[in-house]
Amino acid sequence: MKIRDVLLSEYGRASSIPSPVNRLMTDFAIGFRDGRDINLGVGYVNEQTIPHQQIQLACESVLAQPQKYRASLNYGGAQGSPNLIESLRRFYIENRIGSITEQTLNNRDIVIGANGATSLLESITHLLPTGIVVTADPMYYIYCNDLERKGFSVIAIPEDDEGLDTELLKSKLAVLGDKREAIRFFYVVTVNNPTCTILSNNRKRELVNIVTGLSHEIGQKIPLFFDNAYSDLVHDSSVEPLESALCYDTLGIVYEVGTLSKILAPGLRIGYLIGSTGRFLDSIIQRTSDIGFSAPLINQEIASYLLDHGIEAQIEKVNSGYEQKAKQVKIWMAELLGDNLQECRGGSAGFYFYLTLANVATGSTSDFFKFLTRTTGREAFDGPSDSQHPKVIYIPGEHCVHPSGDMVEVGRQQLRISYGFEELPQIHAALKYMKSAIAYSQENL
Ligand SMILES: Cc1ncc(COP(=O)(O)O)c(C=O)c1O
Repeated sequence: MKIRDVLLSEYGRASSIPSPVNRLMTDFAIGFRDGRDINLGVGYVNEQTIPHQQIQLACESVLAQPQKYRASLNYGGAQGSPNLIESLRRFYIENRIGSITEQTLNNRDIVIGANGATSLLESITHLLPTGIVVTADPMYYIYCNDLERKGFSVIAIPEDDEGLDTELLKSKLAVLGDKREAIRFFYVVTVNNPTCTILSNNRKRELVNIVTGLSHEIGQKIPLFFDNAYSDLVHDSSVEPLESALCYDTLGIVYEVGTLSKILAPGLRIGYLIGSTGRFLDSIIQRTSDIGFSAPLINQEIASYLLDHGIEAQIEKVNSGYEQKAKQVKIWMAELLGDNLQECRGGSAGFYFYLTLANVATGSTSDFFKFLTRTTGREAFDGPSDSQHPKVIYIPGEHCVHPSGDMVEVGRQQLRISYGFEELPQIHAALKYMKSAIAYSQENL
């Protein structure tokens, strides 16, 4: 009898096909030539921002103090290390991060994810019923792709230079009519990925008001998740200090997701969630237990130690590095892409620029893309087959905008570039290649 392949669930079937961005990055990684090709596509942090020595010292100190850091190489509890939770609480309150005070954290708790902020975001998808999720456009494509594979429908509301446009949101909600009852949660990235647009305090407050109103109207609390992955990376001093949405929340619907990936090291895999105590937070803790008991306890204790010893200086160091890079890259972009740069977002926080090019398609079948990945099929542009010219990778806007949203058209001329991972000389070289890629794509019009 013919034997059929393993029977997959709908989610299994959807996941058996790699997402377009994963495919792009894998294809590129396979042939990547260190020291020659340039990766402006990955969301990796800059290696030089990772405090290798302090992490080594923290590990030694944790192991040397078993009274404080109990059984740090054993299993941990599902809410997270009490030391780490206390360190985070202190970090927020002493530094008044987002204007958070002791009072803000009353009736709220902090829980640590099993594997970074990503695992907490993923847990949400298992604990809330499927339905509509509202987010900003361009969207954090990694999470939105996960949501859609799990059967959620994402509605993406275009952002302007203050973040998700709340006037547009109100009109979209009105158009939804009774379907508003299918909204399960809102997901908003406070320094957006891919654009690095900073959600202004006014917009944040307005969002909390809108979702609070909607919750009352529907008679059900609708959670509003703010993803603060890059909120400690505001490196432009002219930006108003960011306030935490927890300060505006009267109904207990706001949850903030944070991570130590960008300010310490992604490899520690420490992400956390702050929100009202109650059934939802309890279910998140159970879910962490289900998927791995806890984040590795040793990593949590190392993170606790680092938060207690000089995190403020570390954050300053990280930000001064990104600030310098952002300023320089901005100058080069104006110089090299100036005539074709229709719009540029980012440069004040995080480490991405999001560009709109005038009359240049950027998608993975475009001439611009082919020139930069050396796949034009013409030796004059690609270089000889055994020694191709340097390749440059970026994230095409077509993957960042929602495929059935309002930004599909403009998305075809957009791209995200990272100034995080590569060093300045490589970024400069990549921008020069982009200038040539624009010329090439215009010649071929
Ligand atoms: C918006 C956003 N959220 C979450 C994450 C992932 O955080 P973590 O490393 O803690 O899983 C990233 C990583 O790039 C991100 O861009």
